[in-house]
Amino acid sequence: MFILKGVNIPYKNGWKVQDVEISNGVFSEISDSIAPIDKSGGKIRSILPSRDSYLIPAMIDPHVHVREPGFEYKEDWSSCSKAALKGGVVVIIDMPNNKIPVDDLEKINIKSNIATKKSYVNYGLYIALTDNNADQIAKGIFNDYICGIKIYMAKTTGGLIVDSIDTIKKSFYQEKPVLVHTGGKEGLLKLLKAYEEVYKDENKAPALYICHISTEKEVEILASYKRKFPNIVGEVTPHHLFLNIDDYNGPPEVLPPLGNKQDQSALWDALIDGIIDLVGTDHAPHTLQEKLSDNPPSGFPGLETALPMLFNSFIDGKLPLNRLIEITSIKAADIFNINGYGKIEKGRAANCTLIVKENWTIGEDGYQTKCGWSPFDGKNLKNKVYLTIVNGNISYIDGKFYRGQIRRLCINGD
Ligand code: NCD
Ligand code: ZN
Ligand code: ZN
Ligand code: ZN
Repeated sequence: MFILKGVNIPYKNGWKVQDVEISNGVFSEISDSIAPIDKSGGKIRSILPSRDSYLIPAMIDPHVHVREPGFEYKEDWSSCSKAALKGGVVVIIDMPNNKIPVDDLEKINIKSNIATKKSYVNYGLYIALTDNNADQIAKGIFNDYICGIKIYMAKTTGGLIVDSIDTIKKSFYQEKPVLVHTGGKEGLLKLLKAYEEVYKDENKAPALYICHISTEKEVEILASYKRKFPNIVGEVTPHHLFLNIDDYNGPPEVLPPLGNKQDQSALWDALIDGIIDLVGTDHAPHTLQEKLSDNPPSGFPGLETALPMLFNSFIDGKLPLNRLIEITSIKAADIFNINGYGKIEKGRAANCTLIVKENWTIGEDGYQTKCGWSPFDGKNLKNKVYLTIVNGNISYIDGKFYRGQIRRLCINGD
């Protein structure tokens, strides 16, 4: 049991200073003042952050490439989940484009065994759709083991491309969310047409999650389809929000490519209006040596910077507090049906992060991600993550990491 003394918690789209007690994995008391003495007169550990501090629901990141098994030299479950903690993220859902793509139960089990041993945060897994497993996927036989199905329709790290519309359609006959790397406007239109056809035949279809929307054109298409199909979900990455092709001069190549300033501002508008539903980091680590080679692989890391970058936009008045919390936790919890996230309230599972207002230059204290770099390196923020709590346990505090009980999510029908 421990108490966070005098922290700001979200209250009516503003803040309220409170003491917050956490015990047995939940917020056990939240009030103006909690005495740090337990029932038998013993002293309770108190944490008194001396600076302006803000307790918010921790981030759920539905789009992470952990890389292990297969590419441990880029990242592994331990380094990736520590990067998550340092960024205020307590759930990572891992993509299936490993060295050997994860497309069956055996490979899911191999991965979950590693994650359960090594991860510092709660986690879930996706399976890749292929022409070979599509019939099994349609029957839902993997659904007790996965958070969703991932489809790669176009060029991406690791191949895995699905061309056939019939194969893609099969993924819409089961209930778990379907996440898609469309490759851009053409792919998106083709996908939405297929989704619409299945929806009309079946009168229902699962959540359709469009990964890394990056252009104004895609935003327009998304907006028009969302009017007809409310369970279409749009994701944007931090790098597409904060960077553009003209100003960026860090390590090159990401898919989809960075947009221009007009795309960037369309993404912000859509995020604030709710046309884009959430932020997924698309944490895709590759080593600096690879990135600076003649043929760099695509992908940027993002776990340890996403929430601080977004909180900075909140401080700057660009992102309302309620939207910040929706796009980083509430919406993802809703889509993947995971309980106990998105709110700081008595009785609820304690998955939260304490952000302090303090100047922080990205990279000044190194990186937890094994790839060791960030597209935001050198950027000055007005805040940093001080503390991250996973399932009621202090898992990160002021640069130090602790591995507590972690959970695998979306399993056994949940
Ligand atoms: C991702 C990767 O490296 O796994 N790369 C990327 O540029 N986004 C794959 C992907 O998300 O398409
Ligand atoms: Zn992708
Ligand atoms: Zn990705
Ligand atoms: Zn400090």
